[in-house]
Amino acid sequence: MLSEDPTKKSLTELGVTDAVQLAHRFYELRARFQRELARASEGEGWERLRDEWVGPEGSVQSRILANWIRTAPEHLKAGLVQDLQNFINEVFILSAVLQPLDQLRATDAAKIESQFRNLRGLFDREVKECRDEVDLGITERFWISPKSGVLKHIAANWRKTAPRDLVPSIGREENKLKAHITREIAERRATLESGAEESALARERIDLSLPGVIRPIGSHHLIRQVFQEIEDIFFSIGFSVVEGPEIETPYYNFEALNIPEFHPVRDDMDTFYLELPLFSDKNAAKTPLLLRTHTSPMQIRTMEKQKPPVRVIVPGKVYRRDNPDATHSFAFHQIEGLAVDTDITFCDFTGTIEYFVKQFFGPSVKTRFRPSYFPFTEPSVEFDVSCPFCGGTGAAAAGGTCSKCKGAAWIELFGAGMVDPAVYGFVNYDAKKVSGFAFGIGIDRLAMLKYGIDDIQVFFQNDVRFLKQFP
Ligand code: DAH
Repeated sequence: MLSEDPTKKSLTELGVTDAVQLAHRFYELRARFQRELARASEGEGWERLRDEWVGPEGSVQSRILANWIRTAPEHLKAGLVQDLQNFINEVFILSAVLQPLDQLRATDAAKIESQFRNLRGLFDREVKECRDEVDLGITERFWISPKSGVLKHIAANWRKTAPRDLVPSIGREENKLKAHITREIAERRATLESGAEESALARERIDLSLPGVIRPIGSHHLIRQVFQEIEDIFFSIGFSVVEGPEIETPYYNFEALNIPEFHPVRDDMDTFYLELPLFSDKNAAKTPLLLRTHTSPMQIRTMEKQKPPVRVIVPGKVYRRDNPDATHSFAFHQIEGLAVDTDITFCDFTGTIEYFVKQFFGPSVKTRFRPSYFPFTEPSVEFDVSCPFCGGTGAAAAGGTCSKCKGAAWIELFGAGMVDPAVYGFVNYDAKKVSGFAFGIGIDRLAMLKYGIDDIQVFFQNDVRFLKQFP
């Protein structure tokens, strides 16, 4: 019967390398034992069988010891010893409960009680070994399965064959054992579950000391940053910020700024005119609308609304029908400035501009102005700054000419001037009493200059690789 007995080979020869494969081998052994036991349950057969399986010599047990345990890899040894122990217990238990009591020489109530006590001891040991619900399920089935559990065998083999006078005490012991097993299993199950809960809790506990999920946070666009930088500088000398509409009328964008229709300066400001459905209504104002070509219209709107003194700056977007290239975009940014009061001189004007330029580029730069022309200022000037990159020398540090000012030593910054008295006429200011200055700074150009950017288009492409460089 043992011609192909796996216990004659070592675990290595059987190819058993882990606990699962090992458990499978024991499962097969157990099944084989039960088959043989069922066949040998008559007469003396069971004693021979017991010797064959768990006897001291030449038995399955001794072969497991010699061939499996002694040569087992270290990591399997402890489990293997436990499996063998469980298996031997099972063999003892089954071989006992499959016999009539008299074959076990239990012929009186005291001896019967001791048989039950033995069983109970074996059960107690087994249930304590259960490490999880799977173990517990196997134990539960082994003992109280209604088809083939130990208790079922006791009823069939012990009680049924017992002399009448012993039946009541067997029944009592059976009930006691069953109650004990049921209670112990329930208790063990509860312990295991709470243990499992605890370890699950430990696993799922939120670790408040771990860093959180870091979500990328955006930053202000470089243009917005430059706006703020300039605003802060003008705040510090008493200017305030106003903003105005990007859709304007020709009156504010041109006429009130002393740019009548057919004035040649309109050629420099190729304008987007709007055809809005709202204004095709025949009752609507007949005035056309446009996208403002500069922030200067806010000079007019501000002076219309308030009496002098006026000290405002106007950051905002402006639009022109320019073809896009490295220095042109159909939309760009300006900051308008306007200061009007009763006693503002050309000195106040140049002093203010110089203060701003030094704050923005650093205290070592110089400023200069050159005559220019704007219809809304008289006199008009262009402000230049001494090149901040070559220190106003026009020469690059490494030799050759400075690439920023192209050797000119000066960089053109923006247009400005004293407010033309004609403009005051449009806003009901008394040109004889008030005076002031205005300026219009191109922000994109300034940002490109300061941060070494050579293509205005990057401001509008929203490429994160660019934006990230200005956190
Ligand atoms: N509005 C002008 C432009 O966009 C810039 C400008 C020049 C504004 C002189 C001013 C100024 O306020 O005084 O070209």
